Amino acid sequence: MTLDAETFRALVAEAALSPSVHNTQPTRWRLTSDGRVQVLEDNSRRLPIGDPDGRDLNVSHGAAVEGFRLAAGKRDLIVEVEHDGVGIAGLTVSAGQVCDPLAAFLTQRRTYRGPFMGGAVAHAALTRLEPSEDLIVVDSRDSIAELARLYDEASLRWFRNAAYRAELLSWMRLSRNHPLWSLDGLNAEAMEMSRIQAAGAGVVLKPGVFETLDRVGLAGALVAEVAVVRSASAVVLFHRPANEAPFDTGRRFHRAWLGFTQAGLSAAPMAVLADDAATRERLQAEFGIEGDRRLITAFRVGIAPAGNVTPKPRLGLDTLIV
Ligand SMILES: Cc1cc2nc3c(=O)[nH]c(=O)nc-3n(C[C@H](O)[C@H](O)[C@H](O)COP(=O)(O)O)c2cc1C
Repeated sequence: MTLDAETFRALVAEAALSPSVHNTQPTRWRLTSDGRVQVLEDNSRRLPIGDPDGRDLNVSHGAAVEGFRLAAGKRDLIVEVEHDGVGIAGLTVSAGQVCDPLAAFLTQRRTYRGPFMGGAVAHAALTRLEPSEDLIVVDSRDSIAELARLYDEASLRWFRNAAYRAELLSWMRLSRNHPLWSLDGLNAEAMEMSRIQAAGAGVVLKPGVFETLDRVGLAGALVAEVAVVRSASAVVLFHRPANEAPFDTGRRFHRAWLGFTQAGLSAAPMAVLADDAATRERLQAEFGIEGDRRLITAFRVGIAPAGNVTPKPRLGLDTLIV
């Protein structure tokens, strides 16, 4: 069958809700004249400092393609994914019934970076989480506290790299007046920052300021997220075969996250626990993640307080479809 332009646009719009590193949204989509879909990359959206090997970039592409596949399934369309040698992947769409319970959560999943609520509801949600060989659920209070400490320690090490801070800052939208506030990157709302906190972050992360604060021992406290991490019901370690292509890891990454949404859990990745080599090795040893597996990320999960759900910053279809 040939995929029509209207359905293609609807599928891209839903796939665009998928997670991407720093909300860079690097994936582009093209409908070819024979009704196939080429998945391409906008390589101006790479992160040369934070992600020099393009691992997170390709995880993001995989997550987007999985989003596309799930969106298609809701419309009784089957998507075959191949590496077509042109771009990131080639997709062939055909008619057919797909029953994937995760598809229903595609439009609900989001990153939640605020403090979680505790209690019985959180406990019940954790028990609903589908066990999986690539997920380790850490729910002892002591272990969560230790992971929170390691997370802040590793984050501070990364923040000490001025180039990393500058790159991160370039994707932060700290004021509503920023022209890209609702389009991409990490806006203050998505980072759960008040106006004052956002203004403060802009100053603290500046070259010179951060180093001065660090010298007097204040930088650590200013970037610390210990309280938020400690409020989580669990930290879920996500590990995959060390030699798996990051694109394939990304497809599973998205599905694992949708599984949290399905269980009623909100989540935020804490990628630095895996990106910081010393911390990754320590956690792999501690949690029995053997040599042929690699810790990809750790998600803090829990129940988010009910409240207004803010719109996700996303690029328009005219940018995403090329
Ligand atoms: C590979 C990858 C790594 C990520 N790492 C982090 C992280 O360390 N901290 C964080 O808060 N969010 C992280 N995220 C979440 C993205 O920032 C988020 O998906 C993006 O801002 C879009 O927002 P949404 O998830 O609400 O759709 C990561 C996402 C991906 C795909």
